[in-house]
Amino acid sequence: MSASSLDTLLAGGVRGRRVLVRSDLNVPLRNGAVADDARIRASLPTLKRLTEAGARVIVASHLGRPKGEPKPELSLAPVAAALGEALGRAAAFCGDCVGPQAADAVAKLADGEVLVLENLRFHPGETSNDADFARALAALADDYVNDAFGTAHRAHASTAGVVPLVERTAAGDLLRCEIENLQQIREPEHPFVCLLGGAKVSDKLGALEALAGTADTLCVGGAMAYTFLRALGQATGESLVEADRLEDAHRILKAAEAAGCELLLPVDHVVAEAPEPGPSRVVAEIPDGWLGVDIGPETARTYAAACEDARTIFWNGPMGIFEIEAFAGGTRAVAEGVAASSAASVVGGGDSLAAVHATGVGERITHLSTGGGASLEYVQGIELPGIAALEGKA
Ligand code: 3PG
Repeated sequence: MSASSLDTLLAGGVRGRRVLVRSDLNVPLRNGAVADDARIRASLPTLKRLTEAGARVIVASHLGRPKGEPKPELSLAPVAAALGEALGRAAAFCGDCVGPQAADAVAKLADGEVLVLENLRFHPGETSNDADFARALAALADDYVNDAFGTAHRAHASTAGVVPLVERTAAGDLLRCEIENLQQIREPEHPFVCLLGGAKVSDKLGALEALAGTADTLCVGGAMAYTFLRALGQATGESLVEADRLEDAHRILKAAEAAGCELLLPVDHVVAEAPEPGPSRVVAEIPDGWLGVDIGPETARTYAAACEDARTIFWNGPMGIFEIEAFAGGTRAVAEGVAASSAASVVGGGDSLAAVHATGVGERITHLSTGGGASLEYVQGIELPGIAALEGKA
C-alpha cells in the first residue's frame, strides 16, 4: 500500500493538531450496550499512538444503516463510553458529527484528548459522499487518518470525500495490518484452501468466481451450497435456494473446473422442519418438507481435513445457522480445522469470527479480519475506495 503511514504522520509531529480518525466502530449492540468489542479493541493501537503523541483526536464512525436520519437506537454514545473504557481515558462524545456542536466540542479538546462524534450516517451526505458534508467533516480537523478497514469498500464522505480536503493523511495501523495480512490471500502459497459460507450465492458471487480461479480447494457451505446443489439437479427440499442464480452457480462450477480448483459441496446435511430450534436429523439427501440448516458431520470432516495440508487458508461465512446451537456444529468444526492447520489463515466476517471465538481458537488463527465485506472485496482484487483515496493523496 503506497498510502502514507501513521509513522510518517507522527514523525511530522501531531502535538496540538486536530486529527480526524475514521474508525469502524460498527459493533453489535444488545439492550443498548456493546455486545462484541472486537472492533473497538482493534481500533486502539492507532488511537493510543496519536493521543500519546499529543494529538487532539476526533473519532468518526458509522453504526448500522440509519439511512441518513438520526435513529436513537443507533447512537454511538454507548460505543464512545466503551471506547473510553478500553482506552483507559475518558472519551468525550458529541451528539452531532458536523456543524457548530461538533466544532465546539473539538475546540474544547486538549492535547492528547479524544472526542467521539455521533453516527456519520445520521446525515445523508455520508453515504452519498456529498461534497458539502465532506467539507464539513474536514473543517473539524487538520489531519486525517483512515483506520476503518471494515468500511474501506465504501466510497463515502468519511472514507473518500474528506481525503483531499485535509492537510496530511495516513493509513492507520489497523488498516495497514489488514492489508498486509490479506495480501497473503491475494498472492497465496499453495495449497490454498478457501471456505465460503453464508446465505446467498448472490452476496459472494465475485468472491466465489475469483477464488475458484486461485484456490486449490474451495469448500462451499451455508445456505448458498443449496443453490449449487439445485443447479446440479440434487434434492434441496425446502432449503433456501436462489432460483435465479442457478446459471451463476453453473458458471462458477465450470470456472473452478477450468482452473483445476476442487470445488467441494456438502455430501450430508443437518436438516430441520424450520429454521428454528426443533427436531433435526442428518441426511445425505434433503427430503421434501425439510430444509438444510448446517453441513453434516461427514462434510465437516472433509472440509476440516482439506485445511490440514494447506499453506494458506481463507474463510468467510458460516456453514449453517450458527446462532442456533444445534445447527452450529459444522461451523465450529471448520473453525477447529482452520485453527489446527499450520497454514497462514485469515478469517473474516462477523459470524465466522463469532464461531472462532465461541470455539476458543482465535489464538491459533493468523489473522482475524475486522472487515467482512471489505476483506471479500480485497481478496478478489477489487480496489477499495478508502485505500485508493489515501493512495491518491500519497
Ligand atoms: C461492516 O460491518 O461490514 C462495515 O462496518 C460496513 O458496514 P455497511 O455494510 O453497512 O457499509
